Amino acid sequence: MSIFDKIQTTAGFIRTKIKYQPHIGIILGSGLGGLVDMIAKEAEILYTEIPGFPVSTVKGHGGALVFGKIEGVDVMLMSGRFHYYEGYSMEEVTFPVRVMKALGVHTLMVSNASGGTNPGFAIGDLMIIKDHINLFPEHPLRGPNDERLGTRFPDMGQAYDHELIEMARQIAAAKGITVRSGIYIGLQGPTFETPAEYRWLHTIGGDAVGMSTVPEVIVARHAGIRVFAISVITDIGISDEPITITHEEVLEAANAAAPKMAALVAGMVMEIK
Ligand code: HPA
Repeated sequence: MSIFDKIQTTAGFIRTKIKYQPHIGIILGSGLGGLVDMIAKEAEILYTEIPGFPVSTVKGHGGALVFGKIEGVDVMLMSGRFHYYEGYSMEEVTFPVRVMKALGVHTLMVSNASGGTNPGFAIGDLMIIKDHINLFPEHPLRGPNDERLGTRFPDMGQAYDHELIEMARQIAAAKGITVRSGIYIGLQGPTFETPAEYRWLHTIGGDAVGMSTVPEVIVARHAGIRVFAISVITDIGISDEPITITHEEVLEAANAAAPKMAALVAGMVMEIK
């Protein structure tokens, strides 16, 4: 089956389970699963029940598509995402984004936990992603291009929508939430970086580093979906002291920042047209 047909099959299945077409998609990052509580839930479909969907394997990542309303606005939310380091192909990692498009999503909000490579950042900071550097070893659009999904050579000049960034800044200011902004570097993991790698990532222009987001954003842009993305800084890689980073600490820091993230996302959902 072609990827196009596969998307249609999966979207067709999902349509039988939902009553409306969401225009906003949300992907929850590590430790941010609690954000699912901000939805007035109308339907929840486990990934294991969705034909064509891979199954999430990592502790701390849920595994369901959730449909419902945030502040009265219809959204669909991925509770748990697929990471390249789990062994999924890039096509699998990004498949849900293509299904979102087929279901009518025009704006995607992506969150993640990431490591700070900007020494000015602190654990718990929110960082609006204004651009990225793609260091994944494989490109999600490599291979024959199906023009029905998007153009062969997509522009990445405004991968992260400037209007949405401005909207986020204003909402954060109005709610008294401090936000940083910066460049996210995506690489495959699953190791956290060495001290030399954190320094290098900063040198090449990165403010934060993580193991997700970039493939999904690229595929969303290919599909013509507007993107807003935001990181919780869960550890600071740049340090003169030896540091140890654990998945537990990452989850804990992300969890602690979840209420700020939820307030910002809810505020944006109300304003996104
Ligand atoms: N590096 C990569 N991915 C991450 C990190 C990190 O320091 N923290 C959370 N996700």
